[in-house]
Amino acid sequence: MYPLTAGIVIETKELWDALQSSLQDLPVRIVLEQSEVGELSSLLERIERIRPDVIFLDISTLRVPLDQVIRGIRALPGSPAVLAVNRTAEPATILNAMRAGAAEFLFPPMNDLRAALERIGNERKTANQAFRRGGHTVGFISAKGGCGATTIACHTAVELPQRVKGKILLADLDFDAGMVGFLLKSKATYSIADAVRNTQRLDENYWKALVTNGFVPGLEIVTAPGPGARQPLKPEQLRFVLSFLRTQYDWIILDLGRSLNASSVAALDEVDDLFLVTTLEVPALHQAKLIIQKLLDSGYGANRLHLVLNRAPKRFDVTLEELERMLGAPVYATLPDDYQALNESYTEGKLLSPGSTLGKHFSRLAMKIVGAPESKKKFSLFG
Ligand SMILES: Nc1ncnc2c1ncn2[C@@H]1O[C@H](COP(=O)(O)OP(=O)(O)O)[C@@H](O)[C@H]1O
Ligand SMILES: [Mg+2]
Repeated sequence: MYPLTAGIVIETKELWDALQSSLQDLPVRIVLEQSEVGELSSLLERIERIRPDVIFLDISTLRVPLDQVIRGIRALPGSPAVLAVNRTAEPATILNAMRAGAAEFLFPPMNDLRAALERIGNERKTANQAFRRGGHTVGFISAKGGCGATTIACHTAVELPQRVKGKILLADLDFDAGMVGFLLKSKATYSIADAVRNTQRLDENYWKALVTNGFVPGLEIVTAPGPGARQPLKPEQLRFVLSFLRTQYDWIILDLGRSLNASSVAALDEVDDLFLVTTLEVPALHQAKLIIQKLLDSGYGANRLHLVLNRAPKRFDVTLEELERMLGAPVYATLPDDYQALNESYTEGKLLSPGSTLGKHFSRLAMKIVGAPESKKKFSLFG
């Protein structure tokens, strides 16, 4: 079943309990919970900010007209589906809810829940993928420079050849300070900028001249232009190149550089899963929050946005839940700090060994991203 994010607006305890227990085994992440509608405009504002795919709405205790609530929710960007939840199932109530615009009607013991969410999930999946064909594109973006986006992009990319079938590309879209070529010892003469500037010539053969095979078999690399060759690129041409790459590769890993800029924003349309890399430093968290807000406001699907907490100390004062609430996005993975190990490997001209502690975290992250089974249950905040 396609994973969904959900908001719960339920006052009746019996309904709340029934829903919670039915949701337990389903791939649904609760991102908003409140017991009653309250002030409709503030509820709508919250939903707009958090952008759940679905809203469970208790219609047995509404103090505002049902059609007004549902119409308000449906009109928000992303049009969350409303699932009307009621204690009983009289035909007149069901009809009323459906006429008001509810996608589904549920009542205890919520037997229809899974089927309802599957229907909605399929619709969302089709909508999300309508413009996508071919390879899966994954992007790493740094909340602010120095959080580790490039480090994580490179170390996860080199893990992929042994984990997935097909062709894999690591592309450096950091047009300010591209480092992928250096870290992976690419001797490329050309860069992705050549493809972006020559979209009219872009075909399989032209592309082959731009990529190199770094030292990792099965991973092709395209670098960012060097400092002397950095000129503004047209965002629509960049998007064109990325959509072309989907037809050539099964997996595409992008280093999107730091923060949002014209090229990362252009690339985002073509990114299926975006990993925002931050540390726990206050300025990084501040930037991360701004980026998340901006992305959600501009309609980027919350289910495509993932936080990676890098260089996490062994212990820290906030809980993951607090952090997620503060930033408005779920933490996908936590990686420990190991400056010395990284630095030693770089000094030897290598990437970090997969056997090291941080290396194991990179492997696990790669596996999680490509959907391969994890060897351990979950990422731990402290390990
Ligand atoms: N988990 C980590 N532990 C220790 N140092 C790290 C870690 N991740 C990244 N670094 C170091 O932080 C610095 C910035 O990393 P980089 O990947 O270039 O950041 P960004 O691409 O976000 O600007 C580099 O020196 C890198 O080696
Ligand atoms: Mg970088």
